[in-house]
Amino acid sequence: MSDTALTIKNIVKSNTPDRPVFFNPENLAWNEWVMPGTYFKLLNINELTGGFTMILKVDPDITAPVHHHIGGIEVYVIEGEFGYGDDDRGGVGSYAIESGGSIHEPTSPGGVTMFAVVHGPLVGYHEDGSIAVVVDGRFMYEMAQKNNAADHITIVNTFK
Ligand SMILES: [Fe+2]
Repeated sequence: MSDTALTIKNIVKSNTPDRPVFFNPENLAWNEWVMPGTYFKLLNINELTGGFTMILKVDPDITAPVHHHIGGIEVYVIEGEFGYGDDDRGGVGSYAIESGGSIHEPTSPGGVTMFAVVHGPLVGYHEDGSIAVVVDGRFMYEMAQKNNAADHITIVNTFK
């Protein structure tokens, strides 16, 4: 056995979390998101990066308005499919990285539901190129809180 092999029995003792580890998002209401025809369930936010983790649902025939990822995003498709143009598309079980700095308008003719880890804010634009919204973890938290769908999230830093 190598020196780095893990063993079941050792002298390190397990600790105990102060709340349940598992949480069932089925019990959360869907919140309307910033783009028409899109909805989210907020699972967590990252107060250090401005990122957040969510389940995102997009109705059929929605083309996302052009948006800019300040932080990258990782997604795993749960239902449906989405993509960019005709040749770069992902269905159920697909994983994608939308890197920080990417600006795009993904399409989803049949609709899609995805698990998404967003590593930093994203920016949405008006037609004239001016900034319409900066979506970060705090913004997401406040949207979910208005819909009573954020009680499971613990905020470390409270700003008023
Ligand atoms: Fe995107």
